[in-house]
Amino acid sequence: MNAIYWFVVILGYILATISLLYVYVIAISFLNETPFVSLERKAIKFALSLLDLKKGDSFIDIGSGDGKVVLLAAEMYKEFGSYNGVEYSKPLVMISNIRRIFSKSKYSIKFHHKDALKYDYRKYNKVFMYLTTPLATSVTELLLKQLKPGSVIVSVYFPVEIKNIKIEEKKYRIGGKIKSFYIITIP
Ligand SMILES: C[S@@+](CC[C@H](N)C(=O)[O-])C[C@H]1O[C@@H](n2cnc3c(N)ncnc32)[C@H](O)[C@@H]1O
Repeated sequence: MNAIYWFVVILGYILATISLLYVYVIAISFLNETPFVSLERKAIKFALSLLDLKKGDSFIDIGSGDGKVVLLAAEMYKEFGSYNGVEYSKPLVMISNIRRIFSKSKYSIKFHHKDALKYDYRKYNKVFMYLTTPLATSVTELLLKQLKPGSVIVSVYFPVEIKNIKIEEKKYRIGGKIKSFYIITIP
């Protein structure tokens, strides 16, 4: 009885500490121009359907937060290629790696701790991003130089402000509101 009591108390403390750390990491990210905001599952699934992942594809979520998008992509399309995230908050990369350990997927999943504007994207052909417009625009300028023709970028909710490139807009109802998804195919 005593052992069970202490086990429950210690487990409660551990869970409370983890929850507080998680809240702290999210609160700290709000000091940045592009904070960590987790995207709704329905929006992630729609954006992934626009990317049309196929066997051999190399997928990356730019600003991968807590890893939810990468892990969901790997879960949904498990027989295809590799799944990656790049994220500059070290605690969020750590959380993503812990989630990866507990995920059922055995496929190639990696989280890279780096600034999205200093990362090499040449090996990727399917790109997901949920970033604010200034960062999404700067990242897309980099992607236009590095990605191979036919590679696809989907920017969720935030438009990319680059002239002279074709940007397709798809609208989809999420949580009762019509939201926009922006698709760029590298010419
Ligand atoms: C809106 S959240 C998106 C999280 C995740 N992709 C999702 O959809 O649930 C944006 C993420 O971008 C990260 N971020 C912001 N600026 C960044 C940068 N320069 N390089 C890498 N990651 C960045 C933030 O820390 C945050 O986790």
